[in-house]
Order: sequence, then C-alpha cells, then structure tokens
Amino acid sequence: MSEHVVVGLAGGVLEIRLNRPDKKNALTREMYAAMADAMAASNEDPAVRAIILTGTGDAFTSGNDVRDFQKRAETNAESSSGRFLPTISTLRKPLIAAVNGMAIGIGTTMLMHADLILAARSATFRMPFTPLGLVPEAGSSLLVPQAIGLRRANALLLLGEAIDAATAAEWGLINAVVADADLMPTARALAAKLAALPAASVRATKALIKTGAPVLAERMAEELVVFRQRVASPEAGEAFAAFVEKRKPDFSRFE
Ligand code: COA
Repeated sequence: MSEHVVVGLAGGVLEIRLNRPDKKNALTREMYAAMADAMAASNEDPAVRAIILTGTGDAFTSGNDVRDFQKRAETNAESSSGRFLPTISTLRKPLIAAVNGMAIGIGTTMLMHADLILAARSATFRMPFTPLGLVPEAGSSLLVPQAIGLRRANALLLLGEAIDAATAAEWGLINAVVADADLMPTARALAAKLAALPAASVRATKALIKTGAPVLAERMAEELVVFRQRVASPEAGEAFAAFVEKRKPDFSRFE
C-alpha cells in the first residue's frame, strides 16, 4: 500500500487515484507497486468489471520521480516501475484513463495501455525523453506511432514537446476531451456502461484487440535495455541535476 495511491471499488468499478499532488503526482517505486498490486488483484476479482485511473490535483502525473532516476543511476538499480508496466500491459479488465491535468513521460506512455482515454480540457501530454537524455519506454516507441502515425509520433518523441488535450484528441492519441468539471462524471458513466456489459465478452474483446502482445513485450524489453543505459549516461545525469537545481541543462559538452 502507498498513501500516494488511493484505491476504491464501487458499483463494479475500481478507481485508482494518484495522490501526491504536492509533487504533481510524480511516481515513486511505492506508487508503481501500489498500482501494480491493485491491477493484478483486479484480474482475479470478479467484482471488478472496469477500472478508472486518474490523479488528484492539477496533474495526472509528472512522470517518474526525477530524484528516483538520480538514485537509480547512482546505484545501477532495477527500473523503479518494476512490475507496473508488465501488469498494466497485460491487464485483463477494461481500463479507462481520466487524465485530469499534465501527463508527462510515463504519465503519457502508460496511457497507451489504457483502453479508453478521456482528458480534461486543461490536460497536456508530453514525453520529454530526449530532453532528459533518455529514450521512450512502456512500448511507446511502438504504440505511439500506431496510435497517431509516424510523423506525429516523431514530433512528440524526438522533440519531447507538449500537446494540449484538443490536439491529442484530434490526433487520436486519446478518445475525447471534456470540460474539467465533467471529467470524472464522464469517466464514471463510461465505466458504468462497461460494467453493465457481459464481462467475459468485454475481456475477450480486449484480448483480441491486443493480439500484438508478443511483439509489444519484445519492444518493451528492448526499450528497457537502452533506457537503462541512458539513465546512467552523463547527459541524463546533467538533466536530472538541472531539474533538482532548478536550472536549464547544458548538453553542449556531450557528443
Ligand atoms: N519528479 C520529482 N519531483 C517532481 C516531479 C518529478 N517528475 N515533477 C514535479 N516535481 C516536484 C517539483 O520538484 C516541486 O517540488 P518542490 O515543491 O519540493 O520544489 C513540486 O513537484 C512542484 O513542481 P514545480 O516544478 O514547482 O511545478 P510547476 O507547475 O512549475 O511544473 C512540471 C510542473 C511537472 C512541469 C515540472 O515540475 C517538471 O518539469 N517536472 C519534471 C517532469 C519530468 O521530467 N518527468 C520525467 C519524465 S520521463
């Protein structure tokens, strides 16, 4: 359990809420583990017929905790996200992401494993892997081009720039944009619809849609190898230090 991840079940719908608003819901090892536990348990629990993932405050999540990245680079530790990515990418229950604010890094890439993605009008999406000296993860090098096409994926993944919710919907990165105040009511209404459908049919349909799973698992493994090298690179070290010291990074000395 993590105080920073709140989990509740009502009416067949499991809500998982990232709850570290003072740090823009930046993800720690404990938070990844709590999300993985809740999702893994849902696979075995017939009472869970749909899942909503959202965040508290003005951020969905600002991505991996940058201080955790620094620690990981120093100790050459395993990925902080641990079981989370394997679990969300093989989740059997339908997952609705309700993106309440900025979704950065894994905050956006994890969405590629959700089945339906709703965003508040104020939400933004950004995958700043290259500005941090990193590479895409969570299968995003495969799933983002699949979702929005190669040209747009290049713009997002190579430049690491943000897009707003309206653009994300227009590009097909997400399903729909709603007014901020309507986000949770809309997500809950969608989840209730899913929960009322024959659960076995919903699960089988999700499994059929995900028939590329072996290719995805292979890509995720490849990404992890490169990501691990990049996290320990001097460029990433400079990017993490710059964030912590609240200054602009200087990459001019790196080839
Ligand atoms: N890791 C660790 N701490 C984070 C964080 C992250 N990913 N994102 C935000 N925080 C912390 C900030 O350090 C700050 O902490 P402090 O109050 O102790 O100084 C607090 O959350 C609020 O963030 P702040 O930067 O003051 O808010 P902002 O509205 O000006 O900017 C962001 C918000 C998310 C745009 C900015 O914090 C940011 O760029 N974060 C890093 C995002 C990132 O690179 N993630 C990794 C992607 S792979």
